[in-house]
Amino acid sequence: MWSDLAAVGRDRSLGGYSRHVFDDADLQLREWFTEQAQRRGLEVETDRNANIWAWWGGPGPGAVVTGSHLDSVPGGGAFDGPLGVVSALLAVDELRVRGVQPSRPIAIVCFAEEEGGRFGLPCLGSRLLTGAADPDVVRRLHDPDGTSVADAARRAGFDPGGLGPDPQRLALIGAFVELHIEQGRLLTAADPTAMVGVGAQIVAHGRWRITVAGEGNHAGTTLPVDRHDPMIPAAAAVLAARRVLSLHSGAVATVGRLRPVPGGTNVIASSVDTWLDVRHGTAADTAAVVDEIVAMVREEAELEGCTVTLHRESLTEQVDFDLALSMQLSELLQVPMVPTGAGHDAGILAGSVPAAMLFVRNPSGVSHAPGEHAETADCEAGVQALADVLATLAA
Ligand code: HGY
Ligand code: MN
Ligand code: MN
Repeated sequence: MWSDLAAVGRDRSLGGYSRHVFDDADLQLREWFTEQAQRRGLEVETDRNANIWAWWGGPGPGAVVTGSHLDSVPGGGAFDGPLGVVSALLAVDELRVRGVQPSRPIAIVCFAEEEGGRFGLPCLGSRLLTGAADPDVVRRLHDPDGTSVADAARRAGFDPGGLGPDPQRLALIGAFVELHIEQGRLLTAADPTAMVGVGAQIVAHGRWRITVAGEGNHAGTTLPVDRHDPMIPAAAAVLAARRVLSLHSGAVATVGRLRPVPGGTNVIASSVDTWLDVRHGTAADTAAVVDEIVAMVREEAELEGCTVTLHRESLTEQVDFDLALSMQLSELLQVPMVPTGAGHDAGILAGSVPAAMLFVRNPSGVSHAPGEHAETADCEAGVQALADVLATLAA
């Protein structure tokens, strides 16, 4: 099964994978998942928010739901997302080999656009499902080419008018457990022998777009005194993202994306968009770090005669996974509970249903990059652990 995915959405220029909601790779992956699920006799349906559900004995109340996402960041690794989906399909196979007859429905879900790699809002499908995203706002989000969610959905055969909260579907979920490659190495730090861990908490995290406006001009003929170069405050944002970390232990801040307009080598940009990803403690802690970074940008902009506008694209509060469920899984599997700095659909669902996560060891900790890797033995341990969890929760 894993090899089926190897060629889908490969990014020749970035390396790794670029798979984004409603693009060709996404549609191929949806078809692949549907076929794999139907081959197992699961009943497949796509909900109003383009999330796909594969049911064993459902849909019905008290369902034990697992799954993850199939989309990636630009140039992402092979495991972030797909490992949870493939492991869920294999865990169903394992339950059948064991002769398990679940007394509750079991479902595998593939959430749409978890990475926010195309339209900028992470966990798009799970936020819409739970009412954590306004469908009118979502319909108007657009990708770097200017295509809106509504148009992209329509072109892919989905009705954008249907996007929105789905309380009936949410009410079916008795528990949601997402298996995911660990992003980072806290599991190995907690127990060097552990192949699998249980998620304890997701740190608060958010994304901001900082737009600096200056004055476009000629790179060769504009005297320093006449320059209003937005790249200077933008560069301050990049450096401030690193500098504030020494002031807030445990915080992380990253400028991973920067877009000068017009972006000519011999042109002083007229404006620059930078995107800031900040993660720290609670949402208030994260916002405080952002305030300090933006204050440094404004200071630089003042000197350069530029203006700064800030737009918050998303802010997700710190999530403590369901303690009783997580401790039950940690006890059942005899593995440690570890926090994470990575956002997940399970983190969005945790606000509405009992949610937990299983992490599969990632020896290098690398993620969101082509080098992301998990050993086969660890992935197999993940499948066995997920099968144990599903058998226990659906008993
Ligand atoms: O960005 C994240 O934290 C997650 O991997 N989507
Ligand atoms: Mn993920
Ligand atoms: Mn990710």
